[in-house]
Amino acid sequence: MKWKEQILTLKAYQPGRTTDEVKKAYGLNEVVKLASNENPFGASEKVKECIRSYADSFAIYPDGYTTSLRTELASFLQLDEKQLIFGNGSDEIIMMISRAMLEPGKNTVMPTPSFPQYRHNAVVEGAEVREVELINGAHDLDKMAEAIDENTAIVWLCSPNNPTGVYITDVQLRGFLDRVPEDVFVVLDEAYYEYVTADDYYNALEIIKEYKNVIVLRTFSKVYGLAAFRVGYGFANESLIARLDPVREPFNVNSLAQKAAVSALSDQSFIDECRTANKEGLEQFYAFCRENGLGYYASEANFILIDFNCDSNELFEYLMSKGYIVRSGAALGIPGTVRVTVGSKEQNEGVMNAMKSFLAETVKR
Ligand SMILES: Cc1ncc(COP(=O)(O)O)c(C=O)c1O
Repeated sequence: MKWKEQILTLKAYQPGRTTDEVKKAYGLNEVVKLASNENPFGASEKVKECIRSYADSFAIYPDGYTTSLRTELASFLQLDEKQLIFGNGSDEIIMMISRAMLEPGKNTVMPTPSFPQYRHNAVVEGAEVREVELINGAHDLDKMAEAIDENTAIVWLCSPNNPTGVYITDVQLRGFLDRVPEDVFVVLDEAYYEYVTADDYYNALEIIKEYKNVIVLRTFSKVYGLAAFRVGYGFANESLIARLDPVREPFNVNSLAQKAAVSALSDQSFIDECRTANKEGLEQFYAFCRENGLGYYASEANFILIDFNCDSNELFEYLMSKGYIVRSGAALGIPGTVRVTVGSKEQNEGVMNAMKSFLAETVKR
């Protein structure tokens, strides 16, 4: 078989254990998943009603132009409809961009640790990956700018960054973009945008007007609570979108997902409530970290990376045995830490109690 050489080095995505698997393995009645930064409050009631009343024919292909969602989102963001592209999750848009631009002989610059799909897709396309270490959880934008050369096709920015939750400020972003050549594509992944409350955060809609080489990625998988439906979108200037669109698979966003996203978008008060609850949840975690002398990064997302300075896999297993699934920092490239999705107040208290007993037991040993 004539596989691409680089495919042979790749592993398929390893999904975490499901709540059912963990229940069975540990004999638990209840398991809380705080591992994938999903919305603990689910989706708006409006979405549930919309899904219950879905009566379209299943025999008909989805709307390949995503018309209703496009119209609603364009009006919500005050953009032209042609400035939008939709994906089967923003994951798919990351794949489309990589497919459209990367190949052997080209390189791509990205922060590390960050969202693993930037690297994964670049490897599939045979491009050189230039990873730049974070500094204190933040992008090292100076080093990233220095890593760009005439063969650089794409620069990836993740704000707030997964897994640290640290964001890029307006001043930092503009300072960086001013240094990026106009023919280098900059992807600004804002999967957690709706959770951000920092005053010095940039306005991505202004950014794409000023910098014609930038695309912004957002998703309905996080605060909108629609991860199961897989809807992500990108916005940029019209000519960039027109270049990218032919790479898109024709019916990539399914009919039910399109409807769900339209109704989720229409309930912004649900989004506001979730943002507020998330902020309160983060404060719970900050207080816990301070009380227990644990390092953490202040987060603008719906997760927090906590440094236990321990074997993170051991802590991960321990929390799982108590009914809480988190992400081990060992799997994220930051050993000693765990990444926890901010849950409901009760879920946060529960996982913190389990963490406290872990700390008490490890001190005893
Ligand atoms: C930074 C970042 N980008 C993109 C994604 C992918 O999201 P989607 O569900 O829209 O594919 C995630 C999901 O965890 C993420 O954390």
